[in-house]
Amino acid sequence: MNQPHATPNPGPDLASTRRDTEEESVHRALEGYYRTGKPPWDTGVTPPELIDLVEGRGALPPGRALELGCGTGTNATYLARHGWDVAAVDLIDRAVDQAREKAAAAGVAVRLLHGDATRLDELDLPGPFDLFFDLSCYCGVPLHRRDAYAAGLTQRAAPGALLLMFGYGPEPLGSPIPEVTSWAAGVTADELRARFTGWELIDVTPGTNSVPTFWFTLRRDA
Ligand SMILES: C[S@@+](CC[C@H](N)C(=O)[O-])C[C@H]1O[C@@H](n2cnc3c(N)ncnc32)[C@H](O)[C@@H]1O
Repeated sequence: MNQPHATPNPGPDLASTRRDTEEESVHRALEGYYRTGKPPWDTGVTPPELIDLVEGRGALPPGRALELGCGTGTNATYLARHGWDVAAVDLIDRAVDQAREKAAAAGVAVRLLHGDATRLDELDLPGPFDLFFDLSCYCGVPLHRRDAYAAGLTQRAAPGALLLMFGYGPEPLGSPIPEVTSWAAGVTADELRARFTGWELIDVTPGTNSVPTFWFTLRRDA
């Protein structure tokens, strides 16, 4: 008589192990940048695209803003100095500490939180927000966390809220870290249209970098 098949041991869930490894690799790489001094992106200069939204013709009235991946707080501080009620999140504690110092030195109040922009439910950030700002955070978020990022913003967006995002396009040279495939993925207009349901992509302006970069503006449905 045939023996019944033994229940196969499912073994490690390889897909989820790979996802964890990717998140850890991103975290380690970012921490390394902040540990070794000033990261290359930390220019201390607010980009003209954000200045235009805040001070230009047809500027937004100050409201509530959330910055995703705020780094050392240059832009969160800028928004607060212009009358916005600002919260800002970064994955790396050293960056958040420096952002706190920068806001304090400027004499403005910014809610600076150490946390993951793809796990906003773990933070005390109910919103609603009128403006989201992301300078090169989302384009490095692992692909499997991007739906959660979009859902977190969607839940916290006031009707008609804007998301201004700067991102690197798909990286022709591949990822600097083999496990981190999301860095090679970058961000495209098609991806944002597909992922941000309930939002309209209202502008895509190429950046001025030597590799493909874009400024995306999305608006939450009213
Ligand atoms: C390229 S840097 C830009 C920093 C800052 N926006 C600036 O312009 O100086 C991207 C930032 O996003 C942060 N970041 C990356 N993934 C994140 C995540 N899942 N949640 C929160 N912050 C994240 C990094 O730690 C880093 O500070």
